[in-house]
Amino acid sequence: MRTPESILAASALSLPFAGPDDDDHLTPRDFERIATLIGDKVGIKLPPAKRIMVEGRLRKRVRSLGLVDFADYTAHLFERNGLDEELVHLINAVTTNKTDFFREPEHFEVMVNKLVPALLAERRGERKPLLKIWSAASSTGAEAYTIAMVMNDLEAQRRDLSYAILGTDIDTNVLEQAARAVFPAEMADAVPAELSARYIMQPRKPGLRAEVRIAPELRKRVQFAHLNLMDKSYPFDRDVDLIFLRNVLIYFEKSDQEAVINRLVGHLRPRGYLLLGHSESMIGTSITMRQVAPAVFQKV
Ligand SMILES: C[S@@+](CC[C@H](N)C(=O)[O-])C[C@H]1O[C@@H](n2cnc3c(N)ncnc32)[C@H](O)[C@@H]1O
Repeated sequence: MRTPESILAASALSLPFAGPDDDDHLTPRDFERIATLIGDKVGIKLPPAKRIMVEGRLRKRVRSLGLVDFADYTAHLFERNGLDEELVHLINAVTTNKTDFFREPEHFEVMVNKLVPALLAERRGERKPLLKIWSAASSTGAEAYTIAMVMNDLEAQRRDLSYAILGTDIDTNVLEQAARAVFPAEMADAVPAELSARYIMQPRKPGLRAEVRIAPELRKRVQFAHLNLMDKSYPFDRDVDLIFLRNVLIYFEKSDQEAVINRLVGHLRPRGYLLLGHSESMIGTSITMRQVAPAVFQKV
């Protein structure tokens, strides 16, 4: 039986591992050090107004490292050489991974009705051109699998094209989820019913609707890889037809936005297309590309 003394002893024992409580905060200087590190390595801006958000996301990390509070965590990063090992977790904690199937759906219509026909017209001489499509901040893969659903239907109808999709992200947790292709069932509600019937596997046991999985026929057409968009070069093909770079540059400084776009455009084939998020459309106008639809730019 647990006596008051034993409870006290247990809680005393666990005290050093309890981690930061809601009253513990990063000092402005420690927040600044983390923000500078993330800005340099990942590109994501963390102004002082984001401090509470960052603390909320890091509390679990501090606890799972067995550290006492945020001061201990920053000392672990910057004074006790913990940074190399911790960086991947810190990055995973500060990224915002919100995504959806058929997010900003106009882009998938434009892709099917305008961009793919134009790309195929360019390659009229080829028997069955392979269209390469890159989801360059893929998060858990909803964008890449949306593209796959639409392209798979198009491939079945037209028979004069083939396609391959690459999804990349800096966050190792979302990449694992993307490769598993398992999603909360309610996320799949955004998928039109006939595509869902073809490409989304429901749980076998009736009544269990917690999770769904993308069908193997699409999974084998989509690959995921780790990539930091802030890297000076990207180890991928340079004849990509379409690059989706949506809802990531809003988190970056202007100079980093332009550098990322320029590097990615270097991976597009001539007259290939770059698709930004609708709220990021202005970023595209700063570079020499031809705008062909809202937030859709063509390499000239
Ligand atoms: C908000 S999600 C957008 C997902 C998807 N493109 C969409 O529009 O639904 C942004 C993604 O960008 C990734 N990201 C942030 N900084 C990155 C970087 N430097 N390199 C690669 N990916 C990054 C995040 O990990 C996150 O998964």
